Amino acid sequence: MIPQSVTVVYFSPTGTTKKIAEAIALGLHAEKTEYIDITSPTERNNIKRAIHSDILVLGFPVYEEHIPDEVRKYLRSASVKVHASVLFCVYGNVAFGKSLREAYGIMKSKQAPAISLGAFIGEHSFATNEVPIGVNRPDNVDLEQGKKLGVISALRYDKQEFIKERDVPENMLLAGRFIPRNSVKWVSIAPAVHMDLCTKCNLCIKKCPMGAIHKDFSINERECIRCYACVRVCKVEARKIRYKGNMIKNMLIRMGAKKKVSIVI
Ligand SMILES: Cc1cc2nc3c(=O)[nH]c(=O)nc-3n(C[C@H](O)[C@H](O)[C@H](O)COP(=O)(O)O)c2cc1C
Repeated sequence: MIPQSVTVVYFSPTGTTKKIAEAIALGLHAEKTEYIDITSPTERNNIKRAIHSDILVLGFPVYEEHIPDEVRKYLRSASVKVHASVLFCVYGNVAFGKSLREAYGIMKSKQAPAISLGAFIGEHSFATNEVPIGVNRPDNVDLEQGKKLGVISALRYDKQEFIKERDVPENMLLAGRFIPRNSVKWVSIAPAVHMDLCTKCNLCIKKCPMGAIHKDFSINERECIRCYACVRVCKVEARKIRYKGNMIKNMLIRMGAKKKVSIVI
């Protein structure tokens, strides 16, 4: 049984998850592939759009070693009617924690059992010249791994082979074990805007996955999830990543120093 239709759902503020999602779809080679980009709040609220296909490919970045709240909330209300799911996370070369396990549980409860899993490396959202973690990932090797996951998934779908819960990997360092969720706000500040550099192109407003940037370019500090999409999209570097103190910087440099490889299960 070859998969005829695939729906690819992804959340990707800084674009690395999107790249892997496209590589997987290439490997799956289904007759019909539909993409649902839930990065924008409008699409996340469009819960009338049902996910109805043979396979759902679900991709998300790892936030504090978990699946992001925005993805979790979307899945809770989304209408999912698929025979199988391909679940993957993209993480910044530190740790993917419980995220795959969480996604596995959610899709199981939606009667969309996983046929394959992947944990890929992407440039860390917090990467700077000073904190160079996962820089320029996913690279070609990561993208090849993505394509491989697609190929494997098509074969598993044909054989109706599903992943067992005990085979779902966990990889917890700090956040997944000890640190409460959303503690990212303790260690980082919403990006400031340097109005002397800003060209008022509005790209940051359009790209913010939370709709947290006002018309005057100030940011709602409470709404901001520190994804730094606005920093990445700004062509004139009018926005900057801001850490609170050096602790997190040093921790990230230490924990993300050793180059990790993308894995496919
Ligand atoms: C709030 C936040 C928390 C993060 N937590 C982790 C983490 O626990 N481990 C890790 O390796 N990377 C972490 N990252 C990095 C992202 O997972 C990584 O940069 C990913 O490639 C971003 O995906 P995107 O480009 O699709 O937005 C975090 C990023 C953000 C914004």
